[in-house]
Amino acid sequence: MSKKAAVEDKLGQLMAEAKAERVKNKSLLGDIREDPGLAEDVKGLMETDLRRVYNIPHKLLGQCAGRDRYRQLGNYSTSLVDFIYGMWAEFQRQAGIYDTLHTKTVKRNIAKTARAQDLARYADQHIRPWDGAYDRLNKKKKKLSFLTGSDFHSHYCNPFALRVFQDVNKSEKPDGIRLNGDVVDFPSLSTHRQFPGHFPMTIQDEINWAKHKLFAPLRKNNPKSDIKFLVGNHDVRLVTAMADKGPMFASLDNLNFAENFELDRFKIGLVCRTNFLFLTSAQRERDIAQNWETLFSEDGRMLFTWVHGFLCGKDAPAKHARRFMTNGTNGHLHDRQEISLGSYATGVIDWYQTPCMAHPKAVAAGYIAGPVEFNAWSCGALFTTIDMGTGHIHNEAIKVGEEIATFRDRVWSIRDAERDQIQQMLEI
Ligand SMILES: [Fe+2]
Ligand SMILES: [Fe+2]
Repeated sequence: MSKKAAVEDKLGQLMAEAKAERVKNKSLLGDIREDPGLAEDVKGLMETDLRRVYNIPHKLLGQCAGRDRYRQLGNYSTSLVDFIYGMWAEFQRQAGIYDTLHTKTVKRNIAKTARAQDLARYADQHIRPWDGAYDRLNKKKKKLSFLTGSDFHSHYCNPFALRVFQDVNKSEKPDGIRLNGDVVDFPSLSTHRQFPGHFPMTIQDEINWAKHKLFAPLRKNNPKSDIKFLVGNHDVRLVTAMADKGPMFASLDNLNFAENFELDRFKIGLVCRTNFLFLTSAQRERDIAQNWETLFSEDGRMLFTWVHGFLCGKDAPAKHARRFMTNGTNGHLHDRQEISLGSYATGVIDWYQTPCMAHPKAVAAGYIAGPVEFNAWSCGALFTTIDMGTGHIHNEAIKVGEEIATFRDRVWSIRDAERDQIQQMLEI
C-alpha cells in the first residue's frame, strides 16, 4: 500500500470510529436539555475529545481544532458544542488549545521568510511584554464603568471631542479606559494613502500627540484607571515599519514601540494578541482580527468584548456581534450604530459601534469620494456601565456635534480655538 493510501485508510478508520461514537452520543443534547446538571460532566469529556482530535499525529493531518475537522473526527455533535459553549472559540478556549493552535499555525509559516522572523522577534521584545500589562480592574466591585474611544487618528482628532472625552474621564473616573484602535494615523506608513510631504505631522509628532494630548491627561485625571490601548490597523503600521528599521525612522527618538509611547510612564497596557508572524497582507488582516479583549466576570462569564474591528459594510456591528456573541463594541467603521441580537444559548446581547474621535470630514479627506455625510461618519465616544453580578450592560453615548456635545445632562459648546483648528484640518 502506498503511503498516501495508508494515510487515507487510517483517516477513514478514524472517521468511522468517530461516527459510531457520535451515534452513541446522539441522545446527549436531549438529555442535557432535560437535566442541565449533566452538562458539567459532559463538558470535561468533550474537551478531552477536542484535544484528542487536535493531537491527531502530524503525519496524518496536522494540528487543527476547527469546527470542520471536529465535525469529521469528533465524538460529539457540533450542535451539542453550540448548545453548551455558544461559540466554537469558547470550546477551544476551555479545552485549553486556542492559543497554541494559533501560534502553531503561524509558527509553521514563520520558516518561510527571514523578514517575518525579524518582525516577530521585534514584537516579542518590544510589544508582547506590554500585552495585558497594568491590569488593575477590581472585578469584585459591584459595578465597573468604562470609557471607550476609537479612531482618534492623531492629527485628525477633533479637539472638541478630545476635550469632552477628557472631561468625562475627569468627572466620571471610569474604572477602565479603552482606546479601541487607530489612536494614531501614520499616513506616511500606509500602503494605500500616499501623499508624500503632505502631512502636517511627522511620525514622531503623532506619537507625541498620543502621549501629551491623550495618555498624559487621561492618567493624570484618573490615576487608578485600567487603561488599555488596543492596537488597530493604523497603529500596527508603526510596528511593521519599525521592525524593518527603514531609514525613514532616522527622526524617531527611539526604535522601541513601547518606550516611544512611554507606556510604562503612563501605566498603559496593550491589547495585542497578534504575534506579528505574518507574511502576507492577508495574514496581517487576519491577525488584526485576532486582536480583541473580553472582560470576564469572577466566575468566568463573558461580559463584554472590545475589538477595533475587522469586518466592514453597513451591518458591520452585527457581523462583529455574531462573531463574539457577547455584549461589546467595535470601532474602525467611524459611524455610530447600536444593535441587539441574540441566540438561545447566549440570550440577547447589545453591541455598540463607536463613532470616531477624529473629525469625520478631516479623516475622510483623501479616501472617501463624495460627501462624507453619506457614510454617516460621526464623532463621539461610549460610556459603559457593567453590573458585575448580573452582567447587565448599560451603554451611554457621548455625542460630539459640530457646535455642541452632550453626555447625560451635560452640554459642552465648541470653543473658537477648536473651531479654528478644525478649519485648519479641513484646509490641509
Ligand atoms: Fe479608523
Ligand atoms: Fe481602523
